[in-house]
Amino acid sequence: MGVPATYGQKSSAPVHVAIIMDGNGRWAKARGLPRIVGHNQGAEALRWTIRHCSALGIAYLTIYAFSSENWKRPQHEVDDLMGLLRIYLNRELPELVKEGVRLKFIGDRDRLSRDVVDLIGESEKTTEANSRLTVVVALNYGSRNEIVQAARRLAESAIDGKLLPEEIDEPVFSRELTTAGIPDPDLLIRTSGEQRLSNFLLWQSAYTELVFSPVLWPDFGPDDLDAAISEFQRRERRYGASSG
Ligand code: FPP
Repeated sequence: MGVPATYGQKSSAPVHVAIIMDGNGRWAKARGLPRIVGHNQGAEALRWTIRHCSALGIAYLTIYAFSSENWKRPQHEVDDLMGLLRIYLNRELPELVKEGVRLKFIGDRDRLSRDVVDLIGESEKTTEANSRLTVVVALNYGSRNEIVQAARRLAESAIDGKLLPEEIDEPVFSRELTTAGIPDPDLLIRTSGEQRLSNFLLWQSAYTELVFSPVLWPDFGPDDLDAAISEFQRRERRYGASSG
């Protein structure tokens, strides 16, 4: 991690796409349905998004499945979301393996229930040899906490005499993040018209192109992903340099 994978390139396809899948609740509310129906439909949107990313040759897809702030939701909705994750992983894993998808989970596992920790660990293990598309699932993830934990580990190394403070630079810091070894996102999409990062990949998105789609996540289809990628390809990425 350091610079986005397409650094220095213009109009190329993104190597790493990150998505804040927002709008499930509003999608359900607009239809007079319980929120879980919106989440179920959101899981379907995720299913084809993974396939479409794979078909497009995107190497990394990072999705915000559950933020560290989502625990504030009513207990029944938290339970529904965790239940959906269990169903989704159990049902989709064979297909994901067949498609060459590698799964990786980022976020704090301490607050997750034992069976979910086991399930995500097994999913990572089952898919570890796959290399076509890496799907990074942010689960109980919060970027500020990730950064604080990295700072704490570096401070401990310095106290233990394993590292000098002046040796801490951006690559060293990046290696302490949960996304170590993964290139920064080139494109970050947030659906549902909201325009903020909500504590998602704050360090990693320093030079990421942001695309905000008005479409609610359950309705987000292949054409919407293609449109976001086209918007990305129209942008000129300068990384702080002046235009030519
Ligand atoms: C945001 O919509 C969505 C979430 C908090 C959860 C994302 C989960 C899914 C897309 C389900 C599939 C994921 C997995 C890993 C099985 P919201 O509820 O905040 O919508 P709102 O802003 O309209 O209320």
